[in-house]
Amino acid sequence: MSVSNGQDCHLLVEERLPQTRRVTGWRSGDRCQKTLGSRPGRVRYLAMVTQHEEMATYFDKWYSDMAGASVKDEIQQRHLGLPPELLSTSLVTWQGIGEIAEALALAPGERLVDLACGRGGYGLELASRGQTQLVGVDFAPAALEVARALASVRGVEADYRVGDLVATGLADGSADAVVVIDAIQFPSDPGSAYREIARILRPGGRVVLTCWEAIDRNDSVVPERLRRVDLRGGLEAADFVDVEVRERAEWRHAERAMLTEAAALEPGNDVALLSFHDEGVSALRTFNHTRRVMATAARAGQRATSTIASVPRCAPPRWGPPTSLR
Ligand SMILES: C[S@@+](CC[C@H](N)C(=O)[O-])C[C@H]1O[C@@H](n2cnc3c(N)ncnc32)[C@H](O)[C@@H]1O
Repeated sequence: MSVSNGQDCHLLVEERLPQTRRVTGWRSGDRCQKTLGSRPGRVRYLAMVTQHEEMATYFDKWYSDMAGASVKDEIQQRHLGLPPELLSTSLVTWQGIGEIAEALALAPGERLVDLACGRGGYGLELASRGQTQLVGVDFAPAALEVARALASVRGVEADYRVGDLVATGLADGSADAVVVIDAIQFPSDPGSAYREIARILRPGGRVVLTCWEAIDRNDSVVPERLRRVDLRGGLEAADFVDVEVRERAEWRHAERAMLTEAAALEPGNDVALLSFHDEGVSALRTFNHTRRVMATAARAGQRATSTIASVPRCAPPRWGPPTSLR
């Protein structure tokens, strides 16, 4: 079930996670609430924790299946123009990395957080270019293992931690810049993710997000997870300033070519290739219903000297119900 890009990820997760555990619309919580009668907040909290754990387990297995999937990585790197040491599980091209680096404007010694970093390829490349410290956070330990090995090979100082997009375990204001590549669509409460990014950024710190948005949010062909992506709305609601969302149509040629090759390949019994193939088929189906976007923004406030408070490695995620559901 290994898949290699962000658009695909969300599709497969949407389709394959057990329906009863999905929190979409809080149906499972509502049903339990009726049955149990009391403590609805706790029931919802449990539903959310369960979904979170299932997603993390799903992704961890996805990455384990990917170990040694050199054919998939080769196809992906060839289309996206990435070097062999840059392992991606998304769809950002080499040109895209240049644009992200320019937007982040990293200065030597700053701290970049690569949130939902996967196997770490993009963060490592950005940190090398900017000569920055790197913190990578993902909830899939199998991905972080690969990221640590790659950081060591590339000689980049990097600290990889198990954590969540909505509960990183990082200290307030501890990042000069945050990048989230093709992953902001995953949390069931997107607002929590934007608020978490704002919390860990120092005043004046920058964020870059890449994702897809539905051209029409009522278009049922587009998976719900993508239909709710609203980069501008999410950033503005979390009080970011200088918000810019740009369509990146230029990135799409490489995306389409890669997905087309994935859809055409014969996966045989290789689970990673099978997933890659499925990804190609399903993402091509919705390709013309979405637009590729990159958002840049800054946390409000004066630029301050970066004071990075250390937190314990692998701090347990602070996972809880969003305030609005308590
Ligand atoms: C499409 S992959 C992109 C990975 C990486 N950014 C890249 O571009 O190669 C999505 C990543 O998001 C991570 N992820 C999804 N939901 C997450 C969450 N709630 N907290 C932390 N990581 C999450 C997955 O484990 C996966 O590594």
